[in-house]
Amino acid sequence: MAIESWVRELIEVRPIRDEEFEVIAKFTPPERVATLHCHPTLVATIYNEVIGYASYYLDDTGVFYHGALRVMETWQREGVGTRLMRARVAIAKDFHAPLHHCLVWTHKPIMAALCEQFGMVPTERYDGSRTLYVGNLMAAD
Ligand SMILES: CC(C)(COP(=O)(O)OP(=O)(O)OC[C@H]1O[C@@H](n2cnc3c(N)ncnc32)[C@H](O)[C@@H]1OP(=O)(O)O)[C@@H](O)C(=O)NCCC(=O)NCCS
Repeated sequence: MAIESWVRELIEVRPIRDEEFEVIAKFTPPERVATLHCHPTLVATIYNEVIGYASYYLDDTGVFYHGALRVMETWQREGVGTRLMRARVAIAKDFHAPLHHCLVWTHKPIMAALCEQFGMVPTERYDGSRTLYVGNLMAAD
C-alpha cells in the first residue's frame, strides 16, 4: 500500500553522518559493506531514521559517477530512490560535471529504468553482466 503524501513530504535527503554508516550497513549486502566509506554518500531519512542511501563520486576529468543506491525494503516503491537520484543529479550539476555515468548490473533492471528516467542511455556493455549508462548534464532540463 502506498504511503500517504504527507508522510512522503517528511522524507529528507542530506549527507550521511558518521554514526549512520552502521545503520546503512544493516541493509547492504555483506560483500559491499567494506566499500561504504569509499565515496560521498547521501541518505534519505524520515524523522532522522535512515531509509535509503546513495553514493557518488567525481573523477579528475569532471565525470560524475553514481555509486550504490539502496532503499530499505519496506520503503521501496515510494519514490525514495527517485529522490536520491534527483539529489545526486543536482550535485553533479553543481559540480558543473558535463556527464554522469552509472554502471548497472544486468540483473538490476530497476536501476536501468531509473537511469533512463534521468536521461542516461546505455552505451558500453562489459562481460555481459554490466552496462554503462551515460547522460549529458549540459542538455536543457
Ligand atoms: C533500485 C531501488 C534503489 C529503487 O528504489 P525505490 O525507492 O524503490 O524507487 P522508486 O520508488 O523511486 O521507483 C522508481 C521507479 O523504478 C521502477 N521500480 C521501482 N521498484 C520497482 C519494482 N519493484 N518493479 C518494477 N519497477 C520498479 C518504477 O519505474 C518506479 O517508478 P514508478 O513507481 O513511478 O513506476 C530499490 O529497488 C533498491 O534498493 N533495490 C535493492 C538495491 C539495488 O538493486 N540497488 C540498485 C543498484 S546499486
